[in-house]
Amino acid sequence: MSAANATEVTKRRTFGIISHPDAGKTTLTEKLLLFGGAIQTAGAVKSNRIKKAATSDFMEIEKQRGISVATSVMGFDYKNYKINILDTPGHKDFAEDTYRTLTAVDSVILVVDSVKGVEDQTRKLMEVCRMRNTPVIVFINKLDREGQDPYDLLEEIEKELNIHTRPLTWPIGSGKDFKGVYNLYEKNLNLFQPDKTKVSKEIVEIKDVNDSLVDELIGDKFAAKLREDVELIDGVYEPFTNDLYLEGYLAPVFFGSAVNNFGVRELLDTFVEIAPEPKSRYTENREVKPDEKGFSGFIFKIHANLDPNHRDRIAFCRIVSGVFERNKFYHHVRLDKKLRFSNPTSFMANDKSVIDEAFPGDVVGLYDSGNFKIGDTLTEGEKMQFKGIPSFSPEIFKVLENKDPLKTKQLEKGIMQLTDEGVAQLFIQQPGNVRIVGTVGELQFDVIQFRLLHEYGAKCSFTSLSYQKACWFTCDDVAEMERFNTIKRYNIAADKDGRPVFFADSLWSLKMTQDTFPKINFHFTSEFND
Ligand code: G4P
Repeated sequence: MSAANATEVTKRRTFGIISHPDAGKTTLTEKLLLFGGAIQTAGAVKSNRIKKAATSDFMEIEKQRGISVATSVMGFDYKNYKINILDTPGHKDFAEDTYRTLTAVDSVILVVDSVKGVEDQTRKLMEVCRMRNTPVIVFINKLDREGQDPYDLLEEIEKELNIHTRPLTWPIGSGKDFKGVYNLYEKNLNLFQPDKTKVSKEIVEIKDVNDSLVDELIGDKFAAKLREDVELIDGVYEPFTNDLYLEGYLAPVFFGSAVNNFGVRELLDTFVEIAPEPKSRYTENREVKPDEKGFSGFIFKIHANLDPNHRDRIAFCRIVSGVFERNKFYHHVRLDKKLRFSNPTSFMANDKSVIDEAFPGDVVGLYDSGNFKIGDTLTEGEKMQFKGIPSFSPEIFKVLENKDPLKTKQLEKGIMQLTDEGVAQLFIQQPGNVRIVGTVGELQFDVIQFRLLHEYGAKCSFTSLSYQKACWFTCDDVAEMERFNTIKRYNIAADKDGRPVFFADSLWSLKMTQDTFPKINFHFTSEFND
């Protein structure tokens, strides 16, 4: 890779913002784009409004998903950096989309609502980050509201999310008494001034926290409390080091109010300084480094084009190494096929544009007529397959039934393509080739039914199954594997690749099964080595 390309790599920062719905992810994204000059006014980011729709109104959701294609990746320049924010759907039924997007980022910013603390979705998303040791920065939002005590919040984050924290700023008061934040490292005060529409800052330089200016600015009472806090923080929290953050062990914490543009600049400035450059990714045989000459990338998300006249889909490719070039032939490893792309798309806030080249860390949208499925690898010829884009164990299961025997082929094709896109997972149970669809959300079944009908002309219905968890299983002992297969035959099916999957009726029965068959290894994602 040339020196110019190496610079392109080192200036890129590709990350995702994760949160429980309503914590302020969209608002924060918007403010970051404002700082980057990618948008001029607040209110321009429409993604994630999805969650505001009623769950039953899936057409509206799909429509909005259509709109949000453009905002699936938001690139902008800030200082000398090229920043790529990968959007993650807020709606919990699209959680698997989010899990997969997290495989394409190099770090995350976690938004926590200071009033509500750690919530359900936060826990699940962080589990995925922890699996991959993704570096995390925490932004505690909505300080303009009467929130929980900051020490309690950090303790809750540490306990529930299994990560150590180190505040880099510290709040002074909250709600109507919110005065601002103290920057523990730069030793300055950022005084709170609500401002919803534009970028502003009121940073007051002080010698240190004992400066008498502090009393003047925030009053004796808050100044005394701040001094006490600052002393305590050093004793309570580990010192911040970049290495601990990059290992995913220690999360620096910022406090602010996204809607008021408050604390966002500190977050962004620190982010560009400490967040990792595009990282290596791994194939079954080797590490692929971003500065390698040859192009490689993987597909982590596929978005259907909802116009029934065009069966096109957009496959999102994260570039791992080399330079991606328009109109150049690349090798689709799984299909052993040469493909070239005449309209690769990059995303810039609300705009899409055709690009000529892209670098590691970037995400390009590739128009696809059915060649791709999630996890596919593109290279300049090398036969390798990136790891780390697993399917996660689904939680809702239904049998797919064909309602129009004349359209059997269409149904078959449709369900195969939709599951390639990652809308749901498909399992086949014998005898009788029973097709079981597994998802993480109810909404997916509506989406499948609607899309099968409108895009493939196939009618289907679903019958619920009472399973609660599916997991892949393996065993070195052939006899034991056979015994398990016989005893549990009514709870066993195969995934699309023919690998055996066990369906548990409840978490309790899963535990019982694990205890009864200690030689069987159960796996909760599709990616395992034994
Ligand atoms: P999400 O993407 O994480 O789901 O959250 P989103 O940004 O949509 O924010 C959820 C709600 O929280 C929005 O209010 C937003 O204005 C509000 N919010 C975001 N940051 C702050 C903050 O710092 N302080 C306060 N007080 N509120 C904040 P909404 O009423 O649902 O929508 P809207 O009509 O304001 O857009």
